[in-house]
Amino acid sequence: MTKKLKMGLIGVGRQGSNHYNNLLSINQVDLQYICDLKVDQSWKEKYSNIPHVVKDYHEILEDPSIDAVLIATSTDAHAQVVLDAAKAKKHIFCEKPFSLTVSDGEIANILRTVKENNVKLQMGFNRRMDPQFRDIYKQIQDGNIGTPQVVKTTSRDPFVLKKELIQRIGTLPYDFTIHDLDLARYMMGSNIKEIYAKGGTLIDPTLKSIGDVDTIALVLEFENGAFGLIDNSRQAVFGYDQRLEVFGSEGMLKAENVSKSTVELYNSTSESKKNPLPIFNERYHEAYVDEVKSFINSVQNDAPVVADGVDAVFAQRAAIATDESIKTGKPVKLDTEFEV
Ligand SMILES: NC(=O)c1ccc[n+]([C@@H]2O[C@H](COP(=O)([O-])OP(=O)(O)OC[C@H]3O[C@@H](n4cnc5c(N)ncnc54)[C@H](O)[C@@H]3O)[C@@H](O)[C@H]2O)c1
Repeated sequence: MTKKLKMGLIGVGRQGSNHYNNLLSINQVDLQYICDLKVDQSWKEKYSNIPHVVKDYHEILEDPSIDAVLIATSTDAHAQVVLDAAKAKKHIFCEKPFSLTVSDGEIANILRTVKENNVKLQMGFNRRMDPQFRDIYKQIQDGNIGTPQVVKTTSRDPFVLKKELIQRIGTLPYDFTIHDLDLARYMMGSNIKEIYAKGGTLIDPTLKSIGDVDTIALVLEFENGAFGLIDNSRQAVFGYDQRLEVFGSEGMLKAENVSKSTVELYNSTSESKKNPLPIFNERYHEAYVDEVKSFINSVQNDAPVVADGVDAVFAQRAAIATDESIKTGKPVKLDTEFEV
């Protein structure tokens, strides 16, 4: 049997707690460290099942027995922790986005350090690992819909996040639309060359005070000539609305929302079916577990990761372009080249 991966989890907030539960459920993982800036005595009691509960992530990096880290800190810390972890020769799973502020040049330097130290870096674009979306991806590769021409994603959160959280993890294009942008590029197998986005505050006008919007409609053009349509909202009153459609020369693939039950009621006065699952960690539970399992497989078998640092750069560029297009009201062209 292959040896378990000794891991440290850095950043245990909303998403880190989700990863924490998943890491404990994965056989190939031996979770040795929990790290968060907020660690105090109460954390040590709460996580008494974990050998080390620390405040400073360097303690994890200095431990030679640790193979890999999972980074789920607030976005502004990702780039530095990735760089330090690569220098310490730890394999890295990092939540998206790579950064909100670090330039392509600096990211290229970090990715070079990752390469030179011969470690894996996987980015948390979990939707690539969702079973429904993987099926769509595989069927596109198998040629079942011919040449893909248009990709459509609908992605709506169930409720507006608190402003303090948005400021830590990024505004709608960086926190949310970035998943759709990555998924659309992945499905179409082509880089995005132009984005035209409209955004507004139809739900909570006070979001303007932090430079955010709650509703986005955008059009993408890919290098291969195909198109994409994305619509995002911060508040769908019926649950976490996540749908994908890819239309091609020989057909169409479509994934509808996932519900707890598939039962539909039809009677003389109405038709009804269960609402979509309520929130991201429930809807994408399998994807979150499978993305970590896939990372472990890449580390143990030296296989390519499902979403790498270059994918993160293209997603980040597309999120920046979305933001710029919303602010200027104009289409934005994207650089489709990137060298590490
Ligand atoms: N893939 C997904 O579906 C998904 C979902 C939610 C969040 N995220 C991403 O996960 C990241 C975290 O988001 P969140 O909602 O959990 O935020 P959060 O603010 O709830 O949690 C972040 C945690 O990181 C800790 N932290 C910050 N800097 C640190 C450092 N240098 N060392 C140790 N700990 C540090 C904070 O104390 C906090 O507890 C963001 O980048 C976000 O974009 C991804």
